[in-house]
Order: sequence, then C-alpha cells, then structure tokens
Amino acid sequence: MITYIDQNLQPDHINQVRLAVGWRALDEARYAEALQKTVYALMAYDDDRPVGLARLIGDGICYVIVDVAVDPAYQKQGIGKTLVLQLLEYVRRQLDKDQDCKILLNASYGKEDFYQKLGFQKMHTGTGMQLILSR
Ligand SMILES: CC(C)(COP(=O)(O)OP(=O)(O)OC[C@H]1O[C@@H](n2cnc3c(N)ncnc32)[C@H](O)[C@@H]1OP(=O)(O)O)[C@@H](O)C(=O)NCCC(=O)NCCS
Repeated sequence: MITYIDQNLQPDHINQVRLAVGWRALDEARYAEALQKTVYALMAYDDDRPVGLARLIGDGICYVIVDVAVDPAYQKQGIGKTLVLQLLEYVRRQLDKDQDCKILLNASYGKEDFYQKLGFQKMHTGTGMQLILSR
C-alpha cells in the first residue's frame, strides 16, 4: 500500500526518487537546509521504499511547486496526482475565506496534460524564464 508522509523527509530518500526519474542527486546537507525552508513537502512510500515526491515553496501570496517526481515503476497509479492535490489542499487550508493566491510551476515538456487535469492552465502572459546562478 502507498503511504504519504510530510514529516522528517530524508534527503537520501529524495535523491533515490530523483535518480529514478533521471534527475541528478542533490547534496544532502543542502537539501536538508532547503527542506527547512520548504513550506510543505510530501513523499510517497511503498512500504519503506521511497517512490514519490512533491515540494511547495512560497510566501502565502505566491507559491511554486517543485520536485514533482514518481518512480517510473510506480507511475500511472495516481501517486503524482495525490501528491500535487495534497499540496493544493495544504495551500487551501492556509487561505482565509475569499482569499486567493497564485500557484506556479514549470511543466516539463510532455507533462502539461498531467497538470492540466489538476486544474493548471498554460500561462499566456509571458514565457517562463530562469537563471542558474553560481559563485
Ligand atoms: C509527471 C509525473 C509526476 C506523473 O506522475 P504519475 O504518478 O504517473 O501520475 P498519475 O498516475 O497521478 O496521473 C494522474 C493523471 O494524469 C495523467 N498523466 C500522467 N502522466 C501524464 C503525462 N505525461 N501526460 C499526460 N497525462 C498524464 C494520468 O493518465 C492520470 O489521468 P487520469 O486522472 O485521467 O487517470 C511522473 O510521470 C514523473 O515523475 N515523471 C518524471 C519526472 C517529471 O517529469 N516530473 C514533472 C516535472 S514538471
């Protein structure tokens, strides 16, 4: 059975999921720091095997969903959907009545339909941009 946890997430478990989807592993100490600053993060487990991940950063007015990943062996079983819906539910609980906020994400090519099914719309106000800054 798949279980979901939102406490004491382990960077090495996160890296297991990242590697499973072909992403690079991140420095664990740095990721642990990032988790401290993360608004809400969730992992999916099959018994003790980490199989899914989603993370929310933000400030109450604007949020960004990052690191959405499900181990390919567990995809198409509703895990990704559950992870993102749980993040959205977390945000909804933070809002006062009649308040709204913006939730942004960068959908990888080919994943747009996954997010559209969850209510996200393509933005027509501009082009998503990024800068990788190093020292
Ligand atoms: C994108 C990803 C998280 C989806 O996870 P998942 O657990 O397979 O998705 P779910 O099973 O919860 O799918 C939910 C719905 O989206 C659909 N869906 C899933 N992936 C899809 C895709 N690539 N294209 C279109 N629809 C998709 C499912 O068919 C399902 O539809 P339904 O509700 O009508 O049955 C997963 O494919 C993944 O980790 N990919 C690699 C990493 C990645 O690209 N992450 C996204 C970065 S933006």
